[in-house]
Amino acid sequence: MSAIAIIGGTGVYDPNMFDTMTESSLMTPYGEIHYVCGTYEGKTVYFLARHGRDHSIPPHKINYRANIWGLKKLGVKFIVSTTAVGSLDQNFGPGHFVLTDQFLDFTKNRVNTFYEGGDRPVAHVDVTEPYSPELRGIVENAAKSLGLTVHNGGTYVCTEGPRFESPAEIRMYAMLGGQTVGMTNVPEVTLANEAEMAYMTISMVTNYAAGISKSALTHGEVVDMMQQMAEQLQSLVKEVIKGIDVNADYPAHHRMSEYGGFQL
Ligand code: HPA
Repeated sequence: MSAIAIIGGTGVYDPNMFDTMTESSLMTPYGEIHYVCGTYEGKTVYFLARHGRDHSIPPHKINYRANIWGLKKLGVKFIVSTTAVGSLDQNFGPGHFVLTDQFLDFTKNRVNTFYEGGDRPVAHVDVTEPYSPELRGIVENAAKSLGLTVHNGGTYVCTEGPRFESPAEIRMYAMLGGQTVGMTNVPEVTLANEAEMAYMTISMVTNYAAGISKSALTHGEVVDMMQQMAEQLQSLVKEVIKGIDVNADYPAHHRMSEYGGFQL
């Protein structure tokens, strides 16, 4: 039976979220990953803290390839990732959940593919629909059933970080159609697509982006808002796990068929 993974970002890790949780690690060709394995509603769920167990890995140093490869190796077919974002859109206020459907990639120094030639030939993954519409639908229904404010669709701008953006950058991103901004979704989303897993992101709006917000941004306000939303997020994740059919087969699971499929 295939498994579900929750990739958690800033402030969401809770070791008591699922039944029977055990910590483990796995060595991948890209480095070691640490994860927690649990079961919920009879389904196997892996929890991976993107920034490390003690939040020590900054966004530009995250080993995205090890994380995604490791989850694939563990039999994961469905990834629900969570992330904190700033908002560029007046309709997306702090405390809202946005189910990202597109990204704009402004990262600079990240290895962003498994296909580097050699054993893995040149390949160009299709990202017309990088965030599984099927999983987004499940999350939207779950969020509505819990009475949360949710927007199904939103364009995420991924910056290199770790600094926040300048107001001029935010104005530019907004002109280009960006609605939320964060530092971690790319290349996580594209690697998951290369590895033929259905992937979606629950973005939690923690603040209005620089220049839109009246005051200077602090990491503290991001963490405070995440903590305020943590309980809602946990209820949402549980509801989503209930809603996922682990035997479902989505287009994302065949993303690399033109290249003979993704090989571990
Ligand atoms: N910018 C970038 N990343 C973020 C922000 C932001 O305003 N808020 C939460 N993560």
